[in-house]
Amino acid sequence: MSLKSILAPVAREMHDVDALIRDRLGSDVVLINALADHIIHSGGKRLRPALVLLAARACGYRDGGGHVLLAAIVEFIHTATLLHDDVVDGSDQRRGKDTANSVWGNGASVLTGDFLYSRSFQMMVELDEMRVMRILADATNRIAEGEVLQLMNCHNPDLSEADYLEVTERKTASLFAAGCRLAAVLAGTGEDTQDALEAYGRHLGIAFQVVDDALDYGTGDGRLGKNVGDDLQEGKTTLPLIRALAETDGDTARALRKAIEDGDSGALVTVQKAIESSGAMAYTFARAEDESRAAIEALAGIPESPYKSALTQLAEFCLRRSY
Ligand code: IPE
Ligand code: IPE
Ligand code: MG
Ligand code: MG
Repeated sequence: MSLKSILAPVAREMHDVDALIRDRLGSDVVLINALADHIIHSGGKRLRPALVLLAARACGYRDGGGHVLLAAIVEFIHTATLLHDDVVDGSDQRRGKDTANSVWGNGASVLTGDFLYSRSFQMMVELDEMRVMRILADATNRIAEGEVLQLMNCHNPDLSEADYLEVTERKTASLFAAGCRLAAVLAGTGEDTQDALEAYGRHLGIAFQVVDDALDYGTGDGRLGKNVGDDLQEGKTTLPLIRALAETDGDTARALRKAIEDGDSGALVTVQKAIESSGAMAYTFARAEDESRAAIEALAGIPESPYKSALTQLAEFCLRRSY
């Protein structure tokens, strides 16, 4: 099932989200407009805002446009982290285009990321809900911690799977979790439902990032829109590598360690082969599947609806996605 058909129950509201994003992106500073326009209109799956809308509806949200505003806020935060992340990772392709940092430079990218962050805070204030602000403030702080932790872990071939998962949970899953919890808060559900939606988002976010780390080794079909091998070049010890290191020894293990220590993308083909033949890629997808299944299980107490079905299908989509 395509992403478009999964998101069909909220297709109309997704248009509202896009219109709101366009409306709130503006600044009278020309460079901000150009750069923010470039990244926002390059596409992107809009997965996080879709999650917010679906989760809100699955929890019975009916009135007002609060869920659309919240969805746009979450996409702004996500986009800000991408602008910063591409600078830190030295990436030059995103959403099938040159990254903002490769077009306008690192400084402009970081500062426009700050603009998008602070714009999302301006929009949060409009919701006038202290609980919403607290959850989003905590999530953005946790994402930043995750990205810094990852930076500290670079070039370390001894990184454990637990340490990797800690980074993954913080840098990626915390925004998925916050968006889903907030949708439940907005719908006025009880604490148990909020916890369930948060757990769904967290498991889904981990599955999503684990698959992203597999796709970085070229398991996709060429539609990724990002360069393959970026993680190796940055010396990021992601799950495919952690598992390959655990499953190999001798010359292969030495080559893998050296590639991480040196951040050597020239070793990409060797590393790809080791990840495949050691079973590390199969293991990576099996871990993602565990998380996807846990996400679906977290929804057990939510009443059946087309929105809940879409949330379940999204958890499956995240496993077989190629972009
Ligand atoms: C990219 O997220 C960053 C990760 C957490 C892996 P997406 O793959 O959702 O990015 P877009 O918004 O669709 O481009
Ligand atoms: C992205 O991690 C995490 C955040 C954006 C916070 P990655 O570095 O794996 O994402 P891509 O591969 O650049 O999209
Ligand atoms: Mg990156
Ligand atoms: Mg990645």
